[in-house]
Amino acid sequence: MSPNEAKDKIQALTAELRQHTYNYYVLAMPTISDYDFDKKLEQLSALEKQFPEFADPESPTQVVGGDITKEFVTVKHRWPMLSLGNTYNEQELIDFDQRVRKAIGDNFEYVCELKFDGLSMSLTYENGKLARAVTRGDGTQGDDVTVNVRTIHSIPKKLAAGNYPDLFEIRGEVFMHLKAFERLNKERIDNGEVPYANPRNFASGTIKLQDSAEVARRPLDCFLYGLYTEKTLFKTHWESLEAVKNWGFHVNDHSRLCSNINSVLEFIDYWDKERFDLSYDIDGIVIKVNNYSQQQELGFTAKSPRWAISYKFKAERVETELLQVTYQVGRTGAVTPVANLKPVLLAGTTVKRATLHNADEITERLKLHEHDTVFVEKGGEIIPKIISVNLDKRKPDAKPIEYITHCPACGTPLLRTEGEAAWYCPNDEGCPPQIVGKMQHFIGRKAMNIDGLGDETIETLYRQEFIKHISDLYILHERADELKKLGRFGEKSINNMLDGIEKSKQMPFEKVLFGLGIRYVGETVAKKLVAHFKTIDNLMAATVEELIAAEEIGGRIAQSITEYFDDENHKQEIEKLKARGLQFVAEEKEVTFASDKLSGQSFIISGVFEKYSRDELKDLIEQNGGKILSSISAKLNYLVAGDNMGPAKLEKANKLNIPIISDEELLAMIS
Ligand code: IVH
Repeated sequence: MSPNEAKDKIQALTAELRQHTYNYYVLAMPTISDYDFDKKLEQLSALEKQFPEFADPESPTQVVGGDITKEFVTVKHRWPMLSLGNTYNEQELIDFDQRVRKAIGDNFEYVCELKFDGLSMSLTYENGKLARAVTRGDGTQGDDVTVNVRTIHSIPKKLAAGNYPDLFEIRGEVFMHLKAFERLNKERIDNGEVPYANPRNFASGTIKLQDSAEVARRPLDCFLYGLYTEKTLFKTHWESLEAVKNWGFHVNDHSRLCSNINSVLEFIDYWDKERFDLSYDIDGIVIKVNNYSQQQELGFTAKSPRWAISYKFKAERVETELLQVTYQVGRTGAVTPVANLKPVLLAGTTVKRATLHNADEITERLKLHEHDTVFVEKGGEIIPKIISVNLDKRKPDAKPIEYITHCPACGTPLLRTEGEAAWYCPNDEGCPPQIVGKMQHFIGRKAMNIDGLGDETIETLYRQEFIKHISDLYILHERADELKKLGRFGEKSINNMLDGIEKSKQMPFEKVLFGLGIRYVGETVAKKLVAHFKTIDNLMAATVEELIAAEEIGGRIAQSITEYFDDENHKQEIEKLKARGLQFVAEEKEVTFASDKLSGQSFIISGVFEKYSRDELKDLIEQNGGKILSSISAKLNYLVAGDNMGPAKLEKANKLNIPIISDEELLAMIS
């Protein structure tokens, strides 16, 4: 390679890897596999060695990686959180073993641990209590996510009496079990939200949420694998694992002591096959020298310890033929392409279909052609993914796959909003899968939970022209005789169904709002909207700015809500539902604190609170005569601060000498 070519290549790889690092750490949405990332990093590292004059001092090969999100307070790590060197084959591991033996001789043991595929977390305990939980960030400083980590049941908030030091740090991996991932991701799809690609992204997206109540709803778990203390308490890593287990921490049971590299290789071999039976994802094995003084002797490189290494499993990959691309239309009108494949065995299951995500995946990234031979991988993801096309096997006359331009269900031309990846069928009033999907969503367990009515019945009632809109359900009783004549349902099931529909009129407003199926309005958002706006009339009249002022409502959600209520058909439907007796006003909560104790006082609420939502605290202030201001100024009397409050707000309040109080102090002012 000429120096000029090398310079260009180094620059291109540096930019590409930076983007991938950002996608991984900041967006928590990686677009390439870890394996491909590491290969590119190796390629860059080799080029930089050969042409050091072109290496960027901030090259991705020189930094641990990562970035720090804005919303959380940044905390410096007492001990830097380093990463591990990666190996992908036996030979690289044998080389590692030789380097270790050269440095410390033959008399040592390894601890082999599973490499959990989640996000690393550093927990600080002071006097037996969880004081702080911090993400890895860039390795030297990370985000203080204590409020969110407190919702993880397997992390002890307070330790039972024991022989642990007053201050220690313990590190581990936060992750989501596969079952929980599948369940919650399905909910996201049902709500018209973008699903997470894998449990790791779901876990890291969850830990960075501002709303701890939502974090608590998403079950996370954590395995601990590293103890850090001022004074060395144990001789070996193994002993420390045993001890922390006794102190109450969740330590994985599959770790093993290995006396030589051959038993390490056996351990790896075993888990390469058995990993698919675990209830969580692992992406490799971590190998650590057991004895702490030997670890010290080996020391560290700039980025990672010389006493440990990780072996990364290759994602299982198979080749198969693309039979056809088909398209599904969801209840929100979003069109999802699906690759139908010639059945092939992959990681223990027969794969017939793979996700294609969106049009760009077909026409830009993969440039799929009819009957292409494709490589399919099942890494952390549950649903297999097409990684690439085997171009050597493409027939010369194969035609490129063109993304459909019209809805496969109703023939309406598809639309795409600028900046969004998905195409939509805008015919929400006339497109059968959308109409049926919306009604099925409405009657579903999480929405109106209507007894005696299921998805298949909805489909039949639609096909027989009994229902087309949700509101038609509430006049179905007028057609009970026709229903009986249909011969599809017995009298008892018709009565059950009509009873269930009648009872659903008592379901609270938040369930009705969620049931309407407005894009991006999931269960939690519906609750927040009801708490803030109280009535459908207020909500329908709200501008984008007013919507954004509500807790947890961002621009995308606000836009979707105003668009929904701007539509005449939707307005008419709401009027019908109101007239037919559904709840469109928040249930009155008993006001226990009402007084005028806060009269003349103004407040701003900021941050996250363990016991109350911000809206609840606002209500409380207003019910007691206080006023809520929208920005910090000299007029403000109190700033009620929770966890993770923005540093700018804090600084401004301090500058203006405004008293900063906790939620408990606020309650004390009232009681
Ligand atoms: S030890 C100094 N043990 O892998 C090394 N890490 O690639 C400290 N990981 O940042 C890490 N399982 O997030 C260690 N059993 C395990 C692990 C593990 C997963 C993650 C961790 C770390 C990354 C390094």
